[in-house]
Amino acid sequence: MDIETLRQSCAACDKCRLAPTRTNIVFGVGNESADLMFVGEAPGEQEDLSGIPFVGRAGKLLDSYLAAVGIDRDSVYIANILKCRPPKNRDPLPDEEDACMPYLREQVRIIEPKIIVCLGRIAAMRLIKPDFKITQEHGVWFRRGRFEMSAFYHPSALLRDPRKKEDMLTDMQALAEKLKQI
Ligand code: URA
Repeated sequence: MDIETLRQSCAACDKCRLAPTRTNIVFGVGNESADLMFVGEAPGEQEDLSGIPFVGRAGKLLDSYLAAVGIDRDSVYIANILKCRPPKNRDPLPDEEDACMPYLREQVRIIEPKIIVCLGRIAAMRLIKPDFKITQEHGVWFRRGRFEMSAFYHPSALLRDPRKKEDMLTDMQALAEKLKQI
């Protein structure tokens, strides 16, 4: 399957309770042969309206870190665990993640990134390990099959607690170095 066919099947999805309330699916955006893929949690309001991941306040903050370490947003691929916005931005429910994960798995299969960085604990618990502790384990690298994986703080967490920003910059700098080595 190619990415456009996958996007179209996702756009027609009604596999969970989030489908009726979405404005748009937020499938993913970026370079379809990227070495680096970011995976966030779920669309927020701005993402639901635009259909593009990480375009709201958190997204702008993510962009500023990418710019600070010299990673071009257009060179990477950005997606989320959930393609539809949960009401009032509540956490994804396990059955919503289960319903949506096949889309992400197929995206990863098509894009074949070498590095996957989870943004926040929800993606880390789903993709790296169920007991992932973001405060202790952000920036730690895990080998999972063909992928180098890590999880960084979610940009929304940095908006709530700016003391985490220093750690985010350190993790992003390490990522930029890793990208140069592959
Ligand atoms: N938060 C996320 O996890 N993903 C987005 O796309 C936007 C905000």
